[in-house]
Amino acid sequence: VEFKGTFNTKHERSMTLADQAKRVAAEFDFEKDAVNKAVKEFIREMDEGLQQEGTEMSQIPTYVTAVPNGTEKGLYMAVDLGGTNFRVCSIQLHGNTTFSLTQSKVAIPRELMVAKTSKELFSFLAKQIELFLKAHHEEHYAGTLKRRETGNMEPDQEIFNLGFTFSFPVNQIGINKGMLMRWTKGFDIQDAIGKDVCALLQTEIDELHLPVKVAALVNDTVGTLMARSYTSPGKTGTLLGAIFGTGTNGAYVEKLSKVTKLTKDQNAGEYDKSTGEMIVNTEWGSFDNSLRTLPNTPYDVELDKNSVNPGIQMFEKRVSGMFLGELLRLALLKLVKDPAVPLFADDNSSSNDVHSTTQIHDSSPIWKQWGIDTSFLSTCAGDSSPGYRMLRQTLDKEYDISAVSAEDAEAVREIAGAIGRRAARLAAVAIAGIVINTGRLNKTTGTATTEQKSGIDLSRGEVEVADEDMIDVGVDGSLVEFYPNFEEHIREALRGVPDIGEQGEKRVRIGIAKDGSGVGAALIALVAGKVASPQE
Ligand code: GLC
Repeated sequence: VEFKGTFNTKHERSMTLADQAKRVAAEFDFEKDAVNKAVKEFIREMDEGLQQEGTEMSQIPTYVTAVPNGTEKGLYMAVDLGGTNFRVCSIQLHGNTTFSLTQSKVAIPRELMVAKTSKELFSFLAKQIELFLKAHHEEHYAGTLKRRETGNMEPDQEIFNLGFTFSFPVNQIGINKGMLMRWTKGFDIQDAIGKDVCALLQTEIDELHLPVKVAALVNDTVGTLMARSYTSPGKTGTLLGAIFGTGTNGAYVEKLSKVTKLTKDQNAGEYDKSTGEMIVNTEWGSFDNSLRTLPNTPYDVELDKNSVNPGIQMFEKRVSGMFLGELLRLALLKLVKDPAVPLFADDNSSSNDVHSTTQIHDSSPIWKQWGIDTSFLSTCAGDSSPGYRMLRQTLDKEYDISAVSAEDAEAVREIAGAIGRRAARLAAVAIAGIVINTGRLNKTTGTATTEQKSGIDLSRGEVEVADEDMIDVGVDGSLVEFYPNFEEHIREALRGVPDIGEQGEKRVRIGIAKDGSGVGAALIALVAGKVASPQE
């Protein structure tokens, strides 16, 4: 790409570029009033989804009616399908809030994500379970080959209860039974829609004669909630488990009486009613698909149009890792193609360290859909080195854009930052909606407020909130883990929500539940095991 602009000075060019970058960045603003409007809509859609089927937010009852308290014990298996990798693990719960975990991980071959038949995918998964057993649990694997020879299905050794973390929208009708509603995150295997995914997996496991029973079906958000509650039980139990990774979603503890579409359903499966609660998988990735309150830039429109599922997962497409890189790519291309001041077309011959003109090579991934990885946004946000050396190096090495000037790097950083900040502020909408609508803020021992009334000047961060007043949120996913200040941006937005405010924001405790979905699935397999054999 050649620079064809007519600037008298380099200074003039960089001023204009900075202006343009600011303008594009501002398109991603999502300020206080917009946040508030969206929170109200989130609460409305939450309630609507609890009452009826076919709503934007699916609000799926999970049949899990209690969160753990850290004393649970036993050896379980868990598998996790939901993004880039398939994970198989075994978990020993020690019963004292700790656990040990053995795991293996494989990348899911791209062609299996869009395979012709679900059998191709599920037989691959069963094969991975076999490899895992062989490598790590010889005692459980031993009889397999014999059974295969004799054709005898009855295992003569102990059966592993397996928790299946399957992180897609599933219409759950029992603890280990659920029909796939739709694929998300780039998966697309038509014949699986409407089928029980536990049965699909169990069939393949049985074909290999493995001593494994799919005991529980778990969304990763539910697993995260369970895991957080096990490892850090707190005084009131965890309220919400949320994923901000390849996709985004949350599961929370709801009053059973509010889940009327389940309590009134004659055909609902069995569940324990004694706790008066049930964990609900919101599937908030599809919050506000009709765009009543979500921001909608030309880049959002373009991204959606070219996706495999236009019109759905509209919230997810603005928040999660699978999409933020693509939003950045589309926004950058707007400046690259701007004849007035093309980005990445600077003449650097006068600068000290680089003696050439910036070049976007034809091979650059920036020209291709999904070409920019979301980790690049983290690189941008994390680079405060003079002249943004790291950012420019990454552009050069990973994106085939060479000799980028500091001014151009600054423009990229500005826009990337705006996209990341908007994502975090949208994340806050979901967290706020759940914290407010569950009424957790109303339950308080009043410790913090009493101190406030006594007139002591308590600046932010110094107020002691009593442990029982904390509202626990367990999170996992690459964005919360790696995007610099993701949580700070969330908190800033939370403070701006009138029903939460400065006081409420301090009561929200956000804690990472790393790889929580495995441990969480084990915990649910445990609960499921208890239901199946109540004499234990
Ligand atoms: C997508 C899936 C959802 C999952 C989330 C995070 O939104 O639909 O089930 O929890 O990604 O992995």
